[in-house]
Amino acid sequence: MSILITNIKQLLQVHESNVTIVKGEDMKTLPILENAYLYIENDTIIEYGNMEDCDGIMAETTIDATGKIVLPSWCDSHTHTVYAGNRTSEFVDRINGLTYAEIANKGGGILNSAALLQQTSEADLYAQSIKRVNELIAMGTGAIEIKTGYGLTVEAELKMLRVIKRIKQESLAKIIPTLLAAHAIPKTYKDNKQDYIKLITEQLIPEAAKLNIAHYIDVFCEDGYFSIAETETILKAGAAHNLRPKIHVNQFNILGGIALGAKYNALSVDHLEELNEADIEALKHTETIPVALPGCSYFLSISYTPARALIDAGLPLAIATDYNPGSAPSGNMNFVVSAACVKLKMTPEEAINAATINGAYAMGISNMYGSITRGKKANIIITKALSDYSEIPYAFAHNPVDQIIINGQLL
Ligand code: NIG
Ligand code: FE
Repeated sequence: MSILITNIKQLLQVHESNVTIVKGEDMKTLPILENAYLYIENDTIIEYGNMEDCDGIMAETTIDATGKIVLPSWCDSHTHTVYAGNRTSEFVDRINGLTYAEIANKGGGILNSAALLQQTSEADLYAQSIKRVNELIAMGTGAIEIKTGYGLTVEAELKMLRVIKRIKQESLAKIIPTLLAAHAIPKTYKDNKQDYIKLITEQLIPEAAKLNIAHYIDVFCEDGYFSIAETETILKAGAAHNLRPKIHVNQFNILGGIALGAKYNALSVDHLEELNEADIEALKHTETIPVALPGCSYFLSISYTPARALIDAGLPLAIATDYNPGSAPSGNMNFVVSAACVKLKMTPEEAINAATINGAYAMGISNMYGSITRGKKANIIITKALSDYSEIPYAFAHNPVDQIIINGQLL
């Protein structure tokens, strides 16, 4: 199977050598080839170059991309795509004045989704979730991290892991599973949280590790959820089973979760709607990437992650959807790229870097995904005819995607 894309107006994120992350000032640069071709064999990017040098390349399928932009598929490094039902009633409660915290304190929120997921059969959960994954693929996403965290019992968390595994096996998208058993305190453990933490560290993590599905461990480190000390206990238990941290921190309060993440060599620290100087300092000279989730800020009407402060301090930044039923019921990366420009004051170049190569880094897959580089996986977006790549974030909430190549297959 071979595909040749010709007459590409702008081929974005072209790297001769295999770059795996872009930081600070470098995020302002998005390498582009104009009037280009791209040649793919099976699931791999083989060659690219100027149209003048395209003569003689034959392929089974040729796509004329006149007027169109071609770029690597979006890499969405933070999602909760596996869930049951939705939380539209809480959405209306929030419109009528209740806060996210007030809804959670009433036993709604994550616990609401957990109760529903526990009652949902594995087959039904898979059917609901694969449908969402296919929608994400159609919107240009080629790699997706998916967390557990709506199970909150050993049995239901393992059910989520098996569903994620099946999606990983059956979808063309690259799927990266994360264990987020410490997402909330189940009702039955309301007055003995330490017993739930014990259940996670002594039973759930070892059993999950045996299934060998999850790559990462996550904790919702936040007031009313898991404290710094509790988060540390869980990260230690994860590390004992080779689960590297990717954690929820600084969404509503600054507890010190960023420094804790850095201490445990977290791959990413995510949310960061609240951020101080010490947090920024803690990220310098580490391999931990901060991840902003502007769709969550938009939907909950909370602060936006101060992306400028992070990037201007020389740090890398990734952006992701946080796709979940409570705080971000949209997995549209095109919107996230636009929101990064409009609300986080990132340039289109920075936003596209954050949504491709840096998103791949935040999943630990940037050696194979996130840029147009020979040998990397052929996950490609072909846009509709656009005047320039900056039209992707400019025309917010429009769909720029015309065609998708995922794992070398044209959809
Ligand atoms: O990333 N903050 C914690 N977890 C999710 C929200 C989960 C929910 O409300 O269902 C988030 O925003
Ligand atoms: Fe999240």
